[in-house]
Amino acid sequence: MGEITNVMEYQAIAKQKLPKMAYDYYNSGAEDEWTLKENREAFSRILFRPRILIDISKIDMTTTVLGFKISMPIMIAPTAMQKMAHPDGEYATARAASAAGTIMTLSSWATSSVEEVASTGPGIRFFQLYVYKNRKVVEQLVRRAERAGFKAIALTVDTPRLGRREADIKNRFVLPPFLTLKNFEGLDLGKMDQANDSGLASYVAGQIDRTLSWKDVKWLQSITTLPILVKGVITAEDARLAVHSGAAGIIVSNHGARQLDYVPATISALEEVVNATQGRIPVYLDGGVRRGTDVFKALALGAAGVFVGRPVVFALAAEGEAGVRNVLRMLRDEFELTMALSGCTSLAEINRSHVLTEGDRLRPKPRL
Ligand code: GLV
Repeated sequence: MGEITNVMEYQAIAKQKLPKMAYDYYNSGAEDEWTLKENREAFSRILFRPRILIDISKIDMTTTVLGFKISMPIMIAPTAMQKMAHPDGEYATARAASAAGTIMTLSSWATSSVEEVASTGPGIRFFQLYVYKNRKVVEQLVRRAERAGFKAIALTVDTPRLGRREADIKNRFVLPPFLTLKNFEGLDLGKMDQANDSGLASYVAGQIDRTLSWKDVKWLQSITTLPILVKGVITAEDARLAVHSGAAGIIVSNHGARQLDYVPATISALEEVVNATQGRIPVYLDGGVRRGTDVFKALALGAAGVFVGRPVVFALAAEGEAGVRNVLRMLRDEFELTMALSGCTSLAEINRSHVLTEGDRLRPKPRL
């Protein structure tokens, strides 16, 4: 393997190493995959307005997320079934996140349980939640996450049904028989049946609660004291509802472009959401973050931090824990360099004037 110099290079290695069904599952987006491409391309249309001749000999990238201090505004997004990528799966990701001093979000559909991930050692961890039809199952799971020391719930709100991922349909995707959705083992919900379709889409159709609505955000608050991040907001209307629902924060997410195709890139939707929240709750972003420059652009447009998904899974497939550590290190180094070359020494100094969006270019106005 030649030297890896950016996080995207792990993808080709993962493609070589993984069984087609597993690689396709991680890689694919919904339908035409327009949003999948757009999540990346929209970042490339945002340009910088760097400031010069500023002493950048000391750069502070630390920040606080829901009261927890972390080393940088780059966190790990929930991605399901990580043991399909590497035998160490979520353990490796948890250890790499802790070593980097940042937050890991564990998927409900992890192949390691909340208790197993907690047993890897100290670390700040969030738990991504899917709401099952059987609310007893949800209550139990949330309680277990609390007991295992998880610090927040990231409630996925964009998946009342699974998006149509055509590679998974063609492959008749199912979780390999030697793995289980570990959080649901013992509840008879840890396995996925073969279907004449994507096995995951059928699992979701059978188990996930399609009636989920804003009142359930309140319900969730009645069963846990953990702060709730609403993950999957991409409009101002829903951002306002999230604030009113008592959410502790919003994750602007289109589920890695795996749900509704032809929604905008998350980086394009970010500013609308940020403006709608009027600073009342923090707004985070995932989707297409592959470079330190992307992290900077998100922060300049008002995000309080970003989450990274696929690069973690691909690096895990390529090199296990070392790969995930390397992803976090490369993104950190790139982000630090972007701050330096933009003339910012702390996150508080990164602001709207440091970027030029397409919208700005269409509506030129002097900014002095
Ligand atoms: C899991 O959350 C998936 O989108 O496949």
